[in-house]
Amino acid sequence: MSVRLAEITDTADVAALLPQAHRILADLVASGAALGWTLPPDRAEVRDLLTELVEGAGSGEAALLVAYASGDDVPSPSSLNRSAPLPDGSRVAGLGYWRRYARQTHRPHADLERVAVAEAYQGRGIGRALTEGLVASARKAGIEVLTLDARGDNERALALYRTLGFNEYGRLVDFVAVGHLRYDKVLYALDLRRPWPRL
Ligand SMILES: CC(C)(COP(=O)(O)OP(=O)(O)OC[C@H]1O[C@@H](n2cnc3c(N)ncnc32)[C@H](O)[C@@H]1OP(=O)(O)O)[C@@H](O)C(=O)NCCC(=O)NCCS
Repeated sequence: MSVRLAEITDTADVAALLPQAHRILADLVASGAALGWTLPPDRAEVRDLLTELVEGAGSGEAALLVAYASGDDVPSPSSLNRSAPLPDGSRVAGLGYWRRYARQTHRPHADLERVAVAEAYQGRGIGRALTEGLVASARKAGIEVLTLDARGDNERALALYRTLGFNEYGRLVDFVAVGHLRYDKVLYALDLRRPWPRL
């Protein structure tokens, strides 16, 4: 399997991407992933989100990075999702994005809001590649501090972010509500004004 990362900058590409991107996010949320939704998002919500990100890409407001997988050993459609492959035979394996803060005093900074890899593709380095790519694109866009937050029990994601140099700067105890359950909200930041402290 080979994986290609692409930053989506043309809104015309959203339509092709949407069925698989929506399926990945909805399936992950349905299986309990900590992506900020308690119920799987519907397709219109994901379309609006992706469109807004891509519209903002040209002006440094946001970046949407997609991992496309291709090759013989790509997981079968049933184990990946129920959407057809893209015209070139590849499949969307994952996606992630950052968005610049809207608050005027926070404008130099951005938040890495979501990184998501389809379950069938997890553990193959795609999440790391996407996150590294997003950090690189934020740096290129002149972002000063890249923040993110994660649910306290999401050890896998937190470990990944720490290896990329993110530091914990705060924690809201029992803040994330999923039904009657409460989880910590862990706040991480990477200061891009300093040399990349990659470990
Ligand atoms: C978190 C997520 C994006 C990681 O993507 P991935 O493609 O599986 O991750 P990678 O294969 O690139 O692994 C990255 C790191 O994750 C951790 N990791 C991977 N597989 C793991 C496992 N089975 N157990 C524990 N940690 C694991 C390791 O720290 C790994 O680092 P390494 O490269 O040194 O081994 C993915 O699991 C996911 O989409 N989860 C659901 C959505 C989510 O929680 N997103 C983050 C929201 S903040």
